[in-house]
Order: sequence, then C-alpha cells, then structure tokens
Amino acid sequence: MAKINFGGVEEEVITSEEFSLEKAREVLKDEIVVVLGYGVQGPGQALNMKDNGINVIVGQREKSKSWDRAVQDGFVPGKTLFPIEKAARKGTVIQYLLSDAGQVAVWPNIIKCLDKGNALYFSHGFSIVYKDQTGIVPPDNVDVILVAPKGSGRTVRTNFLDGSGINSSFAIHQDFTGRAKERTLALGIAIGSGYLFPTTFEKEVHSDLTGERGVLMGCLAGVMEAQYNLLRKHGHSPSEAFNETVEELTQSLIRLVAENGMDWMFSNCSTTAQRGALDWAPKFRDAVAPVFDTLYKKVVSGEETRRVLEANSAPDYREKLDKELDVLKNSEMWQTGTTVRSLRPENRKKL
Ligand SMILES: NC(=O)c1ccc[n+]([C@@H]2O[C@H](COP(=O)([O-])OP(=O)(O)OC[C@H]3O[C@@H](n4cnc5c(N)ncnc54)[C@H](OP(=O)(O)O)[C@@H]3O)[C@@H](O)[C@H]2O)c1
Repeated sequence: MAKINFGGVEEEVITSEEFSLEKAREVLKDEIVVVLGYGVQGPGQALNMKDNGINVIVGQREKSKSWDRAVQDGFVPGKTLFPIEKAARKGTVIQYLLSDAGQVAVWPNIIKCLDKGNALYFSHGFSIVYKDQTGIVPPDNVDVILVAPKGSGRTVRTNFLDGSGINSSFAIHQDFTGRAKERTLALGIAIGSGYLFPTTFEKEVHSDLTGERGVLMGCLAGVMEAQYNLLRKHGHSPSEAFNETVEELTQSLIRLVAENGMDWMFSNCSTTAQRGALDWAPKFRDAVAPVFDTLYKKVVSGEETRRVLEANSAPDYREKLDKELDVLKNSEMWQTGTTVRSLRPENRKKL
C-alpha cells in the first residue's frame, strides 16, 4: 500500500504499481470468477477481467435482453454463459452483481451453491449491512469481500478501453481462507480500477447511498430543476434557461473541474463570476446541509434501503420506474436538453 497525502490527511491506497496486473493474474490463476448478473456493473467488470486474462463466466437468467447482450459481447452459452444457479456452482469467486433487490430474491438459491473456501464478492455493502432486511447472511466458511467502483458500470468499461480507470473502494467482511485480501486486491486490479482505497461494508453503503441521492444525482437534478424553473418563471426562453443551467455546466465548467479542480475553474472564470460564486456557495451549502443531515440519518437507519427493496421487488417495478422516468424525460427542461444536444456541431454533422 502507498501512503498518500489527501489535503493533509494521510490514507493508504493501492494502485497497479503496488499490486500489478501480473500479480493479480498470478493470484487469480486457479480461480473461476463467476459474474452473476449482466446489468450495468456485470458487463463492465466481466469484460475488463476477460480482457485482462482472467477466467470469467457469466450467470444471467435466460430469455432476457441481458442474456442476449452477454452473447453479443462474446460470452458463449454452455461454455462461458449459464443460467444464474448453474454458473454459481462453477465458480470459486462469485461476483454477486444482480440488482440489490434481485440479490435478495435469488439468495436462497445462491447460498446452496457456495462451497467452502469460495469468495462471495459484492460491489455494494447493501445486502450484507442491511441483512435484517435482505436476509443475506453468508456461511462462515467463505470469504466475503467487496470492490465497489465509484462510477457507472458503463464507465468501468469505457474508461478501461480508453486506458484510464474508475477508482474503487475495497473491504473485507469475512476472511475464511486467509487469502481474502489478496483476492480482493487482485479482483480490484483485474476489473481495471484506477486506484483502490480501503473502506468497510458499512462506510461504503452509507456513503454510496448518500452520494447518489445527493450531489451525484438527486441533489443535482433538484437544483438544476430549481434554477431552470426560476429562469423560466422570469421570462427566459427554454434555450437560455437550459444553457445557463445544464449545457454550460456539462460542456464547459465541469470538464474544467474534472481536469483541474473547482479552485482552478473558479480562478479561470471572470472575476464577476468568481465574486458571485464565492458569495453564494456558502448560502447554498448552508441551505442544503439540513437536507443532507436528514438523508444520512435515513440511510443509516435503514429507511432508504427499506424503500428500495419494497419498491424494486414489486413485479411491476420496471413499469412503475419507467412511468416516473417518462415524466422527467417529457418535461420541458429535458426535452429542451434533447434539442440543445441535437444542435451541438458534432451532432448536426450527423443529421
Ligand atoms: N449501476 C452501477 O453502475 C453500479 C455502480 C457501483 C455498484 N453497483 C452495484 O453493483 C450491483 C449490480 O448493480 P447493477 O446496477 O449492475 O444492477 P442492475 O443493472 O439493476 O442489475 C440487473 C441485473 O440483475 C438481474 N436481476 C434483477 N432482478 C433479478 C431477479 N429477481 N432474478 C434474477 N436476476 C435479476 C438482471 O437480470 P434481467 O436483465 O434479466 O432483469 C440483471 O442481470 C449492485 O449491488 C449495485 O449496487 C452498481
């Protein structure tokens, strides 16, 4: 592990310099890694490991779009692609990458497939930490480990193909074999992580649920909508409201934040913008802080996971989600977004 200073706080992290891909291959050379679920994370992790020379099998329910996608991606039915239970029986490392609600539904079948010394791998602390709700309690004679990429499965794959990576946290909940840590790090490197940082299952699920409900998705969508609505209410055109709220952010400013940080972005904007942003940032911070407090409490208490499991276990959960997503999609703001994107020079050329 390398000790790195993060803004004055030292943390131990791992990159492929401390734990090389060659070492990962060596650690995993006798393992059969079974990726259960070919949704969002499944394809990214499975394909990266396969390209890195790891022995990978996919388990996915048959007659589904995800099964067809696995076939298109090169997994061969009966050889490297099997129905979930059949695949689980073949693995020494079982990567449990069904949706979190799916993990609960299928668990009674998976527990029967675990052999002594297997590693049960998660990319989220959800199932283990909220065991009272999920009923997922692994047997004592397996390793229980986690590697959680801090990005969508899609970017796990696209960044890998670009030659970059997504950072991941890792944790060990149960070390039966004495090899849990080396297995975890090897898998973390094999799926193409940028750098790996240690966490616990609890810290991972608490921060992850907060992040996606907060700045990454929920809060972002909420504040964008508030600003767009405000500008529209005061007579600004959809084009003006959208450009000042989303397009300028995604096409310009957030790219600068990604490259050089918020401090650099601030200092490379007009002094008019700097003055205003420095004055208003603390007001927004203080206004949303109580909402974040409530959010974190609801995550820790299990209220959020209860809602997720209830909603996403219903047989018609997909249709219901689609209905809500359609409202967002058909709103003036996001319809404007479709039009604005179609007018980008690179998209106009395609018309
Ligand atoms: N999404 C991300 O980028 C991301 C990021 C970091 C961590 N994670 C974690 O990674 C894990 C996988 O997440 P994901 O987003 O990839 O999940 P997802 O796309 O929602 O997973 C869907 C997969 O689960 C299967 N599935 C769902 N319900 C099922 C059921 N009742 N029986 C059998 N199969 C079922 C789906 O099969 P069908 O296609 O047949 O429905 C599909 O293969 C989760 O623990 C998640 O928290 C996800």
